[in-house]
Amino acid sequence: MSKIKIGLVGLGRLGMTHATNIATNIPEMDLVAICSLNQDELTTAQALLNVKETYLDYQEMLASPNLDAIVIVSPSGFHCQQIQLALEAGLHVFCEKPIGLSLSEIDQTLALSEKHPEQKLMIGFMRRFDDSYQYAKELVAAGELGELTVIRCYGIDPSSGMESFVKFAADSNSGGIFADMAIHDIDLIRWFSQQEVSRVWALGKNAAYPELDQVNELETGTAMMQLTDQTMALLVTGRNAAHGYHVETEIIGTKGMLRIGAAPEKNLVTLFNEHGVVRPTSQNFPERFGQAFVSEMKAFATCILDDLPTPVSARDGLQATKIATACQTSFETNSIVEIDRSN
Ligand code: NAI
Repeated sequence: MSKIKIGLVGLGRLGMTHATNIATNIPEMDLVAICSLNQDELTTAQALLNVKETYLDYQEMLASPNLDAIVIVSPSGFHCQQIQLALEAGLHVFCEKPIGLSLSEIDQTLALSEKHPEQKLMIGFMRRFDDSYQYAKELVAAGELGELTVIRCYGIDPSSGMESFVKFAADSNSGGIFADMAIHDIDLIRWFSQQEVSRVWALGKNAAYPELDQVNELETGTAMMQLTDQTMALLVTGRNAAHGYHVETEIIGTKGMLRIGAAPEKNLVTLFNEHGVVRPTSQNFPERFGQAFVSEMKAFATCILDDLPTPVSARDGLQATKIATACQTSFETNSIVEIDRSN
């Protein structure tokens, strides 16, 4: 295989970022086909990125004889079905987080993937590929922090993105704040600790944006978790950071602690003006994780070309959704929820 021929589905808030990266930043890949329900998106992307084939129907794209792999960036409720169809068509698959919203659909997807071990299936938890998170992971793995005791995570979308989020949530079920947003932190907790979550207690509140009630979404959620080795994890997840896109992680161990993104700084510039000493903040996920989105797609290409296991597996996707679902249930039932670890 000289270049991996890609068909991409979904050209919305994130889809165009992946499409642009594949077409312009990943030399190992060729963006051959794109699919969206929206003809305007297809026309714009085709012209910008010089894509040969466009489709309004996913299954028609899968029937193209020109593809090696599918990149799925459609709304979360479609992921499992689209993964399964792509695997059945003999293609490798990269799928955005979450792998799915229904645990039974995810189980079926995993079973199908296990029947096709030669076809790669990777889930898009891009924070693992961010340079700062990779550096922190090396420190933790080298024992610099000693034994971990607490992991604290903030993942808060900017209030400036509220309008586009409400549209996203109204168009298609996001899965709720824990499956859609906190799932990144849930994945990081598992990745850093190499432990599973045993039980969760989650809470939520809507204060600034009552319109979120209309689309059955929370403005802010929190969760406290216990991991299998008694490590504690705390997360704050939200849609209302007035200052920008706030992603912060703190890891505390017996020999030290570290923070990633303690302030969500845009870059190394400090501005001195009539407002005082100003550190500009990153404003959205493409800005903060631009490098990570490219690195994760390069990693997917390497797995296909060198026949390596994917660094974020379908099982990682299942475990994260299982924990997110437990958080949602905990919030809805106002109780502590134990996680089923039978598979
Ligand atoms: P969006 O609503 O902005 O765009 C959805 C796109 O999918 C549109 O192009 C639409 O035409 C297409 N689409 C919808 N249903 C389809 C179907 N049945 N068949 C083919 N195409 C279909 O969605 P957004 O925000 O881009 O999210 C897409 C996925 O990416 C979600 O699963 C979301 O969780 C994930 N995401 C991940 C982020 C990250 O930080 N890694 C950030 C934003 C989104």
